[in-house]
Amino acid sequence: MTRFTLDGAEVEAAPGETIWQVATRQGIEVPHLCHLERPGYRPDGNCRACLVQIEGERVLGASCIRKPAEGMVVRTATERVQQARRMVFELLLADQPGAASRDPSGIFARWARHLGVQGSRFAPEPAAPQADPSHPAMLVQLDACIQCGLCERACREVQHNDVIGLAGRGIGVTVSFDTLTPMGESTCVACGECVQACPPALCCPRRWWTRRGCAHRNRSASSPPSAPIAASAARWISTSATTQSWRSPAATAPPTRAASA
Ligand code: SF4
Ligand code: SF4
Ligand code: FES
Repeated sequence: MTRFTLDGAEVEAAPGETIWQVATRQGIEVPHLCHLERPGYRPDGNCRACLVQIEGERVLGASCIRKPAEGMVVRTATERVQQARRMVFELLLADQPGAASRDPSGIFARWARHLGVQGSRFAPEPAAPQADPSHPAMLVQLDACIQCGLCERACREVQHNDVIGLAGRGIGVTVSFDTLTPMGESTCVACGECVQACPPALCCPRRWWTRRGCAHRNRSASSPPSAPIAASAARWISTSATTQSWRSPAATAPPTRAASA
């Protein structure tokens, strides 16, 4: 056991436990976007939503990957920490102009509300990726992608399908199905795991899609529902595959960005 101080209280961490895990066990809420509390979704440390202050250290630390050391003093809610987290969310919001409000029940939107972040001071991304309507069961809209990599871990490490990867570099990084193939033409087996993992909820079963976003998610204030999405996708595939009618572009045309905003 490692003994350290967390928000003024003496706590113990089990071998391998991160600061985020200990804080959560203590009932302390620390935002997180790029990892989930589910088997297989290891923390990645890339979103910086979970920053905490560690005494004696110049920079804030990502609590989802940082393990406590004996005698460490950690604070999760100082003004500096809160400001840094709000900054992280503002920067991420600037990457998704017009898309952030589409799914008010997604993990990203709920944490943003929790932190009091309603808009961004930063210049928005000038161009957003087009929606990918090629899949019969899911509509992919990467205009709100925060490059957290959860969909990649969902597909590769949880379901072992290895369809999704992150392509490109720097600000050009994007989610890729196989080798930048449209999702409907990729080797995706429609398990739905990536849909339920995504914090801004970028994919949605197509029949739930409305002008205001995903109808199911807009109804739900709880965590993203994995089972209904996967089940819906599977049902849709099984009923559509016999007729192939879903291949008709006219029948499956997605709403335009303007209409869905
Ligand atoms: S739905 Fe397709 S892309 Fe998503 S996790 Fe399953 S196989 Fe991978
Ligand atoms: S599509 Fe969603 S899960 Fe995948 S990297 Fe983007 S925000 Fe993360
Ligand atoms: S949740 Fe810790 S860096 Fe993303």
